[in-house]
Amino acid sequence: MKLFIDSANLDHIREIHGWGILAGVTTNPSLIAKEGGDFLQTVHDICELVRGPVSAEVVAQDVDGMVEEGRLLAKVHEEVVVKVPLIEAGLAATRVLSSEGIKVNVTLCFNATQALYAALAGATYISPFLGRLDDIGASGIDLIEEIVQIYANNPDISTQVLAASIRHPGHLIQSAMAGAHVATVPYKVFKQSVKHPLTDRGNQGFLDDWATVPDRDIVGQVQRWLSSRVV
Ligand code: G3P
Repeated sequence: MKLFIDSANLDHIREIHGWGILAGVTTNPSLIAKEGGDFLQTVHDICELVRGPVSAEVVAQDVDGMVEEGRLLAKVHEEVVVKVPLIEAGLAATRVLSSEGIKVNVTLCFNATQALYAALAGATYISPFLGRLDDIGASGIDLIEEIVQIYANNPDISTQVLAASIRHPGHLIQSAMAGAHVATVPYKVFKQSVKHPLTDRGNQGFLDDWATVPDRDIVGQVQRWLSSRVV
């Protein structure tokens, strides 16, 4: 499974990218609006930083408008993936854009038939929203499982399941276990899930014990050890 970050905050993206685990980024109009910067410059900067797929969403609601916005967004950077909403016009726009070689992330997916339609329209990614389904008492993970199975049953489908609206570490693990190809994870969830009190306690215990060793300079020890072995 690949991990994307769901953010338009360059500092947050830079920090998590520094962990060496990030394959891409998803943005949406809400995330872009929250940061307040220039939309296209932000998208370009993220692409340059991550050098992986970066989803940027259209806001037009008709086919021609989505196609026009999508073609232009795709020119901003070669890593841009055009994000379109899962409405009727979004499916038609996906067909046009994907047939031109433009990658499309079809977003706001809440049932398996929507996901099948997006795949048949040529989507590169389908984004089922786990958290928002859980919010209304449905099961986001059940939807991920359904979509993964439907796609697996249809070898012609190459669309990747991108688990979105992830609200906590459990969503991330359940998505991975259900076979999602990608999860897009908010900064807060990355920070929550990397920490464990036993890791911190164990790390501190090792440091405390090492503090009792007379020569604690590992770099110096290794350099002396290596030079003593040169013939
Ligand atoms: O990027 C789309 C999605 O991840 C939004 O998540 O938490 O606003 O439902 P959320």
